[in-house]
Amino acid sequence: MKIGLMCGREYSFPQAFIDRVNQIGATDGITAELVSLGGTPMDKPSDYRVIVDRISHEVEYYRGAMKNAVLHGAYVINNPFWWTADDKFFNYALMDKLGCAIPKTVLIPQKAYPADIDLAPESLRNLKFPIDWDALLDYVGRPAILKPYSGGGWKHVYKVNDRRELLAAYEQTAPYCMTLQQFINFDQYVRCFTFGKTDITPVAYDVKERRYLVDHNYLSSEVGSRVVRDAQTINLALGYEMNTIEFAIQDGVPYAIDYLNPAPDFERDRITPFYFDMVVDKMSNLVVDRALNGHPSQCWPRWEEMLGIGPATGFTGAPGTTTAPQ
Ligand SMILES: Nc1ncnc2c1ncn2[C@@H]1O[C@H](COP(=O)(O)OP(=O)(O)OP(=O)(O)O)[C@@H](O)[C@H]1O
Ligand SMILES: [Mg+2]
Repeated sequence: MKIGLMCGREYSFPQAFIDRVNQIGATDGITAELVSLGGTPMDKPSDYRVIVDRISHEVEYYRGAMKNAVLHGAYVINNPFWWTADDKFFNYALMDKLGCAIPKTVLIPQKAYPADIDLAPESLRNLKFPIDWDALLDYVGRPAILKPYSGGGWKHVYKVNDRRELLAAYEQTAPYCMTLQQFINFDQYVRCFTFGKTDITPVAYDVKERRYLVDHNYLSSEVGSRVVRDAQTINLALGYEMNTIEFAIQDGVPYAIDYLNPAPDFERDRITPFYFDMVVDKMSNLVVDRALNGHPSQCWPRWEEMLGIGPATGFTGAPGTTTAPQ
């Protein structure tokens, strides 16, 4: 059985991961390599039993190839269908319903639209103008965070104190769709690595320096348990098996800030050698386990069942619990 890795400009993770899988998979006849794609026939099964996809968000062809691989029975981490559909605003609204602490968030109309949309009034007749910015600020509170509804790399994230600052920031956001969010005045911040849906490792994170810290006593056991439980709920609902889930902790309450990071940063220099070794180890164990035991459907999201509005296929926990089958 072959494990394939899809990745872009990454320096430390790819070879370390491939070497480790080749090492631990040898007794089961499992080998790992970079996936090689040069045109994907629709009726040809994938060469790989499991694919770890860390780049198809940047390359459209890759995303199509990943979907086709799933169709033919490959186990792709992360599920390319859900990843295509997901966005941060939906995530906030969903996890609010499922009992996680979520900053109040509002989705706002874009500042501008792609050039081929006719800006004549009838093209955008569903939009109400002018926007009542004061009402939106009243809803989320002041200060507030303005940030993309689907984005990453800390781009277009603005802290605004009032309407004037909000409008000045909004001016710079074309053509992105943005959210306005309650500002969490956090005293602690963690980023959780997740391996599979329920194996969660919260890591102290220095937001100013954008660095992971090795501090095993950073969280109290109470906050740590809630962080782990909420991160599990997030992955169980959304189907992610390789993710970074971020929490800002204010007065002992972990607010989930960002959990659409399905190609997490695995660069040794940034995540520290300690967590790098752990990530390589756990990701390798995960793919070997999925190669031997995984079924393609297991990486699908479960939020409809968890909310009790989807097909009843065995979820027995109440919203916010983590007893769903994995
Ligand atoms: N509601 C909030 N309250 C306080 N700070 C926030 C809030 N939302 C975002 N931030 C700050 O902005 C940073 C970036 O936000 P977010 O993670 O949502 O964006 P991103 O583009 O995914 O960034 P990254 O790639 O660094 O994860 C967070 O690490 C946090 O420091
Ligand atoms: Mg983030």
